[in-house]
Amino acid sequence: MAIRHSVSCALLASAVAVAAAPAQAAGTVEVLHWWTSGGEAKAVGELKKAFEAQGGKWIDSPIAGGGGDPAMTALRARVVAGNPPTAVQLKGPGIQEWAREGTVADIEEVAAREGWDDKLPPVLADIMKYEGKYVAAPVNIHRVDWMWVNPAVLEKAGVSVPTTWDEFNAAAETIKAAGITPLAHGGQPWQDATIFEVVALGLGGADFYRKALVELDADALQSDTMVKVFDQMRVMRGFVDPNFSGRDWNLATGMVMRGEAAFQIMGDWAKGEFLAAGKAPGTDFVCAAAPGDAFILNSDSFVMFKVRGEDRVEGQKVLASLIMSPEFQGTFNLAKGSIPARIDVPLDAFDDCAKKSHDDLTKAIEAGTLVPSMAHEMAIPRSVRGEFLDVITEHFNSDMSSAEAVKRLVEAVERAG
Ligand code: BGC
Repeated sequence: MAIRHSVSCALLASAVAVAAAPAQAAGTVEVLHWWTSGGEAKAVGELKKAFEAQGGKWIDSPIAGGGGDPAMTALRARVVAGNPPTAVQLKGPGIQEWAREGTVADIEEVAAREGWDDKLPPVLADIMKYEGKYVAAPVNIHRVDWMWVNPAVLEKAGVSVPTTWDEFNAAAETIKAAGITPLAHGGQPWQDATIFEVVALGLGGADFYRKALVELDADALQSDTMVKVFDQMRVMRGFVDPNFSGRDWNLATGMVMRGEAAFQIMGDWAKGEFLAAGKAPGTDFVCAAAPGDAFILNSDSFVMFKVRGEDRVEGQKVLASLIMSPEFQGTFNLAKGSIPARIDVPLDAFDDCAKKSHDDLTKAIEAGTLVPSMAHEMAIPRSVRGEFLDVITEHFNSDMSSAEAVKRLVEAVERAG
């Protein structure tokens, strides 16, 4: 008995020792990303935690700046210096642009082994590949065309959640007359462009959006609809507070949280902020699709750059596999405000905003009204996007007429093309 007891004690002790020992080394990754707001930091913290739990070493390289423009500048400098990070938050055509330069490592071996093709919606799988091979691992699906609403402010002003832009304008006027800022906004080019594309979709529909902001069709760019989009941008300018210039997007979300503003038009990373602050959807804040019957897609992914050293190459493989694991896709997206990129992750633990995002995405895919985000680098080359942002921001911050803005946009796109 005593022997059996001591044997089982020894077995138990060794089992505990195995559990306590660091897991098998999973390599090293240096991860360049721009997730520095409250909700974003929490979400990327999940990735770090999961990677370290596998025995990997995580070197964090955060570059602050919503929308990622400063991060992309930093990446360019690192690559030019011959010292790329191992893994980079990158997306859309940017993935292809870097791959064409020959700087990106493919992760096809991991993707093929794990059958990623069957786990991702085709629209996303295509974006992750270069010349038929996976070079990026997607973490999520964000929706851009959301309106974040403070219900108490709307109730106080006696207005309901708008479903058309006319209703939005009327509600905003009433809220303004009640002495509250209707629209929480941060005057940074990517935020201006976020509102612009949401308005373009709402006023012009998915076909117009696709022609103008994805295919860069000259007729669509200089159409009356585009003039109307800039007209609406001018109206929106009247709904922001005097201190909007340069404000970070998450501070604008804070204004809605505190009831200092009624609405924010922003992708569902804003939900990550509300949640990180302990706010509940449906009561403390409301998510409503912005006017327009479609879905603007934005998906974050990680691209592995070509690096030397077994430890780093191993780290890339482990990270790619981890990113696509169902468990990680669940925990990460619960914090980030997005929904999983994988189609087989159950949404039971997710809130109604996420479920609506999923349902509307499915409908949009069926109806052919899913469009990629221009502002968030899913639609057009970075250089052309830059031209759009310049014109949109200049128009928003001056008294430029809509006709002049359209003229400049057409010229700029021709120049960039
Ligand atoms: C990214 C999000 C991020 C947001 C604000 C978007 O372009 O896709 O993940 O939270 O920018 O930084």
